[in-house]
Formats: sequence, structure tokens, C-alpha cells
Amino acid sequence: MFVASTYSKKELFSNVEPDLVIFHCNELVTMNTKYGVPRIGDDMSELAIINDGAVAVKDDRIIFIGSTEELQSKFEFGKILTKIDASNKLVTPGFVDPHTHIIFEGSRENELSMKLKGKSYIEILESGGGILKTVRETRNTSIEKLVQNGKKILDNMMSFGTTTIEAKSGYGLTTESEIKQLEAIQILNDDHPIDIIPTFLGAHAIPPEYEKKPDKYVDLIISDMIPRIAKEGLAVFCDVFCEKGIFSIKQTRKILKTAMRYGLKPQIHIDEIVDTNGALLASELRAIQTGHLLKSNDEGLKAMVEAGVIATLLPATPFCLMLNQYAPARKMIELGLPIALATDLNPNCWTESMQMIIALACYHMKLSPAEALAASTINAACAIQKDEEIGSIEIGKKADLIVFDVPNHQFLPYHFGVNLVSKVIKNGKIVVDNHLST
Ligand code: NIG
Ligand code: FE
Repeated sequence: MFVASTYSKKELFSNVEPDLVIFHCNELVTMNTKYGVPRIGDDMSELAIINDGAVAVKDDRIIFIGSTEELQSKFEFGKILTKIDASNKLVTPGFVDPHTHIIFEGSRENELSMKLKGKSYIEILESGGGILKTVRETRNTSIEKLVQNGKKILDNMMSFGTTTIEAKSGYGLTTESEIKQLEAIQILNDDHPIDIIPTFLGAHAIPPEYEKKPDKYVDLIISDMIPRIAKEGLAVFCDVFCEKGIFSIKQTRKILKTAMRYGLKPQIHIDEIVDTNGALLASELRAIQTGHLLKSNDEGLKAMVEAGVIATLLPATPFCLMLNQYAPARKMIELGLPIALATDLNPNCWTESMQMIIALACYHMKLSPAEALAASTINAACAIQKDEEIGSIEIGKKADLIVFDVPNHQFLPYHFGVNLVSKVIKNGKIVVDNHLST
């Protein structure tokens, strides 16, 4: 019997002929995992670039990486079905977006004028807007419409280079409508090329019918929602919006401990508006990832390093809230905390573009282009525990790749506000083909 561990993946694929190759890549950013998984500290800048690089694909797998010269001597070039010349182009692993809220009805463009007049996110929510407006509309819509809305978002994401995402429920806040959202995610995962990791976020807001008795809503999450969702296999993660005036540390702990007993993995929205010691709780529970962390204290960040929690930074959110404050990414990198980037796409903060996030991360959080790219690929894959399959270009991994119409990775934040993607390959197939000028 074949014993996998006695063969390296290189040997496993050594006699396989490719059906797709990309060659003459000006920069092939392999993000080789030998430089750390997740990347931390100085290693975040190590992209493991091959110049004049080449990658070969068979079915949905990467079977070769190296120089173009090696590729041409190894395979019979004429026989390969699809050949992509990436001269003057950048090739990277597909983007992973590890924190999104893509399943919702309606929109909230009207809230911009409220924000411009100085209303805060929490004030808008307390007056029945924000999450609660989206909840009303999402409850009243069909699963078919949620799928249709989600498909449009996924198509946009893919056109900007995203090949895997995490997606949360959280706009239903009843057992049935949370399940409706998670089922919409399941349908999209089956039908769309983008892979989706589902997260249950019933604890996203206190619904109006529980306004005066929030602990009763926590009880509903614990006694009804989590057991049903876990039993039906509808979610991998459980998330909570832990924030002053939303869910307290105590409620969050209770919800996530229950979720963990049911086999759901913990993650938390923490310290976005107020420091509630969310980072300490994330460490105590050994959350896989946490989102936001604008206000987290140093003790909490250090505890996260110890506990191996990934900090998923969402710079589009403070950008849309005009907060003029961003998560302290440089301090986090210095502490050795692994950071990932994500869009946080939601009706308050609507962008599908990880290219936009990379630009915001560089200009507002002072990440280097290399660090931002590591945070959007290998570290983002770690945030959803998929780093063995995706996040780097290595033999045996999924062939999820982006060809950018730019000569190097520094261009990603530099030439901003346009889509730099030339082609996207998902599971070894070309799923986006833009004929940009070269
Ligand atoms: O991560 N902060 C909580 N949840 C989302 C926003 C959801 C919404 O405003 O609809 C976030 O920013
Ligand atoms: Fe979020």
C-alpha cells in the first residue's frame, strides 16, 4: 500500500504531465511555507520569489514550480494545452479573504450621510439602523434572493483575485433565518468556484424582540441555534460581536464555550470600538482568529502571541467609519503576532477587493507591500485553517493563482483603485480572463 509519508509530494507528481502552465513570470511569489506558517515578524516580508518563474498545473493541483528554463527542459512544451506567458507580470497565490459578511439583503448607502454628520456606528445601530436594518430586510427575503445577492458578490471577489473566503451568518438572529443564511452559503459553496468556509454569527446583535432581555437571546443561541447548526453541519466556526453595548465578555465566553462543545471553532470580533479585554478572552479560548483589534491592549496582544491566535485586520472598516485610527499592525508584527488581512465585506463596509485592502493596509497601517501580501495569502489561509491546501504556490497544493498585469508585488498598493488582475486560476481552471493592456 502507498504510504504517503515515504514519498515527497515532488516525487508523487514527478511523472505527471501538466495541462496548464504559467511561464516567464517576472515575479512568481511562491510564499513558500518553509519561511513559517503563519508568517511572523521579519519572515512576513519573505515572499520566496522566483524571477522568470514557472508553475505547472494538472487538474486542480500544482505539480511543478521552478524557473522557466527548468519547466521547458522538464516537459514537452508543445503538448501542454494551456500556456500562459506571464512576461512582465506578477503571479501570486489566490487571495484568501478570511472575514466576510456576504449574505444579506438590501444596502445601507443612506448611512454615509449620517456618519458624515458625526453619528457613530453604535448610535446608528441603537436608532434601529446598521445591523438591525439589514436584519429586518434579511429576515424578509428568500433563500433564493440571498443566493443571488451572494453570487454577485462572489463574482466580484473572484474578478479581483479572491479564490477562498470565510462567510458569516448574523443578519437573521432567529434560528430559522440564521439557518437560511448558512444554507445560502452552502448552496454558493457548491455552485460557485470560490470555496467558502461558513461561520455561525448568531451573536451579531441583540434582536429587537430581545432588547429588554439580552440574556434570553444568549440562551436561545446556546440552547437552540448552536445545537441545530452543529447537528446540520452548517458551520465550521462560531463568531461573536464582543463589544461594549453588544455582547459582553461574559456572554461571549458562554456562547463560544458552548459552540466549542459542539465542535465549532471559536473566533471573535474584538476591541473594535472599546477595549473590553477581548484579546485576553481570545487567548483564553484559543480562538483561531480574531477580527478588528483597534483598541486591544498590549497585555492582550502578548497573550494572543502565546496562545497562537491570528489577528485578522480589517482596515476597510475604520476607513468607512472615518475613524482615523487603524489596528496597530506594526506593533503586532514587532510582538510576533501573526496578522491576516480581510475585507470584512458587509453593508456598512462594502468592498470585494483584497487589492483595496492591501492598499489601505500599506497606507494606513504601514505594512510593506510584501507583508500585506503575506497577510492576504498564507496568513489568511491559516486564519481559516486551510494552510495545508492553499495560501502558497507549492507542489501538491491547490492551483489557486492570480496573474497580475503588473511587473512586481510593490505595484499592488502603488497603482490603486483599479483592478490589476489579468487572470485568475481556481482549482486549475481559468475563471477570470481580463484582456488588460500590457
Ligand atoms: O465586522 N462589527 C460587527 N460586524 C460587522 C459589521 C456588520 C454591519 O455593520 O452590518 C463588522 O464590522
Ligand atoms: Fe465583521
